[in-house]
Amino acid sequence: MSQYWSAVVHGLTPYVPGEQPKLANLVKLNTNENPYGPSPKVLDAVRAEAADTLRLYPDPNSDRLRAGIAAYHGVTADQVFVGNGSDEVLGHAFMALLKHARPILFPDISYSFYPVYCGLYEIAHRTIPLTESFEIRVDDYLTPNGGVVFPNPNAPTGRLLALGEIERLLAGNPDSVVVIDEAYIDFGGESAVGLVARYPQLLVIRTLSKSHALAGLRVGYAIGQPHLIEALGRVKDSFNSYPLDRFAQAGALASMEDPAWFESICAKVVATRTGLVASMTGMGFDVLPSAANFIFARHPEHDGAELAAALRERSIIVRHFKNPARIAPFLRITVGTDEQCNALLTALKAIVAC
Ligand SMILES: Cc1ncc(COP(=O)(O)O)c(C=O)c1O
Repeated sequence: MSQYWSAVVHGLTPYVPGEQPKLANLVKLNTNENPYGPSPKVLDAVRAEAADTLRLYPDPNSDRLRAGIAAYHGVTADQVFVGNGSDEVLGHAFMALLKHARPILFPDISYSFYPVYCGLYEIAHRTIPLTESFEIRVDDYLTPNGGVVFPNPNAPTGRLLALGEIERLLAGNPDSVVVIDEAYIDFGGESAVGLVARYPQLLVIRTLSKSHALAGLRVGYAIGQPHLIEALGRVKDSFNSYPLDRFAQAGALASMEDPAWFESICAKVVATRTGLVASMTGMGFDVLPSAANFIFARHPEHDGAELAAALRERSIIVRHFKNPARIAPFLRITVGTDEQCNALLTALKAIVAC
């Protein structure tokens, strides 16, 4: 029945999200969710929204939330755009700022949604190989382009690019938009938001899904100078004027106003990550240095797919990417609680001993 489809749909290769199994009692380390819950103030704010006012549309521009995000980052509200998860914000950024005659650039190993947006919006792109040690080399991006986008820390590698290198990239790309996707920055890096005032082509995209433990609320945002934010708003209002419902706006604002909570849960994740990396290294795994809430690791004697399958048999789910071939030996493992990571280590010890 695909004769009913629009022509562009035939050529789409949609993003495949990590599995969300319906089974209980799994150790779920496959989608980089936070193992701790959000601030109790978020839950109170969300409950308070369950009221008669649900019959009314939410604020289409999320003004209070944008002011809260601006206050947290020390910018002005006209430098903030919010969307239904950072995936939606990224989608709008591709459409609004990255669709030009020249191809955009992103790493060959990176967030697999980027090529999907290129397919959807018919944006030419060129992938730039990471180095042997899975690092982004800024010099490779100092070439004419229609824009640059990558996560920092990168996903699924977890490797961080130093802020000084991002500034070098910006200085060398004055004519094209540079999008830094900071989905994981709160777990070990320094944000590029501080560079926004000096670089009119910089857009920083962030999410409350990971560090704020709010993947289920679907809130992401972008920070950039007002001319970039206006472009995002034009696309948003040509697509869906009310992307954030009343629960999302209220909950996200409460979370931005309670930084002590999310900073403390991030610190717990980082402490667990340190122990996990040490234990896995001790078991013979090569673990890339991670500044994120996940690690990327391979064992010299065990295939990635085989390890993932053996863990699954023990009710532990991690993420394995078959492509590109260079990363097929690796597992991407979300840092869970100490208890979850201990269960993972016990299972891995048994598996690699076989
Ligand atoms: C690098 C990167 N960017 C963006 C996202 C999207 O996050 P969300 O749409 O939940 O904000 C993810 C989610 O896994 C990610 O890994």
